[in-house]
Amino acid sequence: MNIGLLGMGTVGGGVYDAIAERGIGLSVTRILDCRTLPGLEQLRTADFQTILDDPSIDVVVETMGGDEPAFSFVMAALQAGKHVVTSNKLLISAHFCALHEAAVQNGVQLRYTAAAGGGIPWLYNLARAKRCDDILSIRGIINGTTNYILDGMHTRSGDFDAMLAEAQRLGYAERDASADIDALDAQRKCAISASLAFDAYVPAASIPAAGIRHIKKKDIHYCENMGRVCRLMFYATRCENGVCAHVEPAFVKADSTAAAIHGCGNMVTLTGRLLGELTLIGQGAGRAPTGVAVVQDILDIAQGLPQAPVVCAEAAVCADAVTHRYYVRKGDGQYISDPVSVAQMHKEGADFFAQIVE
Ligand code: HSE
Repeated sequence: MNIGLLGMGTVGGGVYDAIAERGIGLSVTRILDCRTLPGLEQLRTADFQTILDDPSIDVVVETMGGDEPAFSFVMAALQAGKHVVTSNKLLISAHFCALHEAAVQNGVQLRYTAAAGGGIPWLYNLARAKRCDDILSIRGIINGTTNYILDGMHTRSGDFDAMLAEAQRLGYAERDASADIDALDAQRKCAISASLAFDAYVPAASIPAAGIRHIKKKDIHYCENMGRVCRLMFYATRCENGVCAHVEPAFVKADSTAAAIHGCGNMVTLTGRLLGELTLIGQGAGRAPTGVAVVQDILDIAQGLPQAPVVCAEAAVCADAVTHRYYVRKGDGQYISDPVSVAQMHKEGADFFAQIVE
């Protein structure tokens, strides 16, 4: 199977390395990148049309990230009858329905396991679990950069900026790391996961999301004095009127599974009506794990694995049906609130707040 690879950055490099190392019947025959790529000059092109017009290319693998030109390239590839595999969470969350519809209309596959959970086959197993069960809820840690920062602040007394710089150096962070620390990346991954879990398109912007940009050492100390650890968590539940979903920092108990997720690790849990709880843990970011997740999708296409249809009707998203106590820091004050709805807490805001997980 011949692959046109769009973008030779962190994830694209991981895809290229995994295929070069393992072979496995796959071949990267073109790479779109505006850089020079020493040693790969023969494969490199700066013109996407070269890939689109090449009938020998079966799969377009998009690892450029961002909205445009990724959206136009992926759409054109689907319309040209090429399968698409992408790790691009922004692309999938923003254009979920248009891209799925284009794939169906053109009889090709659109796979994006690496778009949520890094190296963890989370979306793959979510879709699989759903084949003979009803997903009641999903939750977990789904951003590696923020977990790396929070873990470093707890276990190494690390400084926020130093931990973020390390996460950037290790290739975990987005090009614009505000997507990580302001929870937009986790919001998009929550939206994609919820859309698949609950058979309804959940727009990312409809999910209240608060990040860790303003967390300070005094928040970490308060959290530790409560016998807890801070993690950035996502939650989505099927509810009476649609889907309840949110992303926010959470003080989890020190003996919980979430507290034991270190470094750039991710942890994702689904609750099925029949299956009960299933938790997957692994590397949530990074070149090799994410690259391998992309390659697994390509192999599924090569092996002719069918894909379940995706439902595109938009879900109603609510955040006022769920209430928590919150740790709140406003000015010099730090306190634990009475139970308050997610919608109200996110609206009110604070210098920093975190859900108290009961
Ligand atoms: N910046 C993302 C993260 C990369 O830290 O989780 C993987 O999607």
